[in-house]
Amino acid sequence: MQVATFLAYLVAAVLFVVGIRRLRKPETARSGNTIAAFGMLIALAATFLVIDTNATSVWLLIGGGVLLGGVVGAVSAQRVPMTGMPQMVAAFNGVGGGCIALVALSEFYQGRAETWVAASAGLLTIIIGSVSFAGSIVAFSKLQEIAFTGSVAFPLQQVVNALIFLGVLLLSANVFLDGALAEAVGIPFLSPLISLYILLAASLLLGVLFVIPIGGADMPIVISLLNAFTGLAAAASGFVLENYALLIAGTLVGASGTILTRQMSSALGRPLGKIIFAGIAATGGKQEEDDEEREVNDVSAEDVGSYLKEEANKIVIVPGYGLAVAQAQSPMYELMETLESDGKEVLFGIHPVAGRMPGHMNVLLTEAGVPYAKLYDLEDINPEFEETDAVIIVGANDVVNPAANDEEKDSPISGMPILEVENAKRVIFIKRSLSPGFAGVDNPLFYDTDKTMMLFTDAKQGLQEVTEAVKNA
Ligand code: TAP
Repeated sequence: MQVATFLAYLVAAVLFVVGIRRLRKPETARSGNTIAAFGMLIALAATFLVIDTNATSVWLLIGGGVLLGGVVGAVSAQRVPMTGMPQMVAAFNGVGGGCIALVALSEFYQGRAETWVAASAGLLTIIIGSVSFAGSIVAFSKLQEIAFTGSVAFPLQQVVNALIFLGVLLLSANVFLDGALAEAVGIPFLSPLISLYILLAASLLLGVLFVIPIGGADMPIVISLLNAFTGLAAAASGFVLENYALLIAGTLVGASGTILTRQMSSALGRPLGKIIFAGIAATGGKQEEDDEEREVNDVSAEDVGSYLKEEANKIVIVPGYGLAVAQAQSPMYELMETLESDGKEVLFGIHPVAGRMPGHMNVLLTEAGVPYAKLYDLEDINPEFEETDAVIIVGANDVVNPAANDEEKDSPISGMPILEVENAKRVIFIKRSLSPGFAGVDNPLFYDTDKTMMLFTDAKQGLQEVTEAVKNA
């Protein structure tokens, strides 16, 4: 490898690390993203230096690929709504995994995976890349509600998965032993190349079967896990292609994806093994309880405004998915300012999986100008609720649903640590109806008429009306 390319890869790697580090905080995340993207641009440019051909068709193919990928990436990133981010991450992650699997397949096809290191890394790349591709496409379809919604299960699913996995291992061994295994058991037509094609198909099937039983509420964790898989596959393909940039970038994605997966699984209170192997059913937005009419304390914006003005000193605001849908972050900021100008203490309680992607609420609120110091994590805000006069829950349900603590019920949110808003003096929900949230679990707090006020309206309109009502009270 030329010295210039090596140095460029080194600079790119440093920029990746600096970029990822800056993603830790909303204030620096934007520049972190730009720095990492710049690193990728340098790595891409440096890769052109090692391409050993003058054939116009090859350069046209590479240029066409870069252009197509760049345009699709830029246009979809501009167009995707914040609420559709998880689907986009799943789709991009999937194409990354699929692309790496195909690159490894072509290395075998051209007879370049000769050493045992290259052959084992190549096999690993094909398997993990294909599982990641197929799994991500299923995750995308679930989140976009195109197909496989809820938990899709069939009898002996785990046994079928185990048998396919065993088949994948045997096919890999056959490729590794240059077809000797197939000959030894009397199926000589199973050449290494045919084994590779079957291996690819089996790994794709495994990816589908791995993700279909997992309910929608667990999708963020699965996407993060598949992201870690793609990183691993990229790192393995870095070995095959002897490309340091791929090796480093893949390792970084694999490591950060693994850390994120662990953090999300602990935020949801569910061990990873249970999510993957137990296939917990998430009902995906269906009302669980029977439809019998239950009484709620249906209030107006004026009722909420006068309560906040006259009886509340310490107020915690809890945002959720509905805030993002209604794009109500600026009215939320205005309510905070109005309350503070009246001498109230206002804090924000942010659940790690509020919204539809990690850090969703932090991004929205920081964008609206809410100081970072006011955003409290789950562990920090929970002790505050006992001394809180009012919690205003805007477009959220699952993250404040005490049903998660019900040990007898194996619901999609069972065991998930929640924001313990029920410990506050008053709970005020701003949402449009009694619909449950993403996990489809009804919230008993809606019906606690002594404690809870329900303001049924769109989040943006509700926050604007409450702000006016506080000013006029
Ligand atoms: P949810 O439990 O999904 O509740 C959202 C609530 O917003 C709904 O009850 C809905 O009620 C209300 N809403 C929707 N549009 C609204 C609007 N325009 N104005 C006012 N309210 C509106 O949200 P959450 O509490 O943030 O919980 C997040 C859930 O998503 C968790 O189950 C989590 O596991 C899952 N999830 C999270 C992620 C990540 S990583 N954050 C990714 C995927 C899934 P109405 O229809 O009655 O208004």
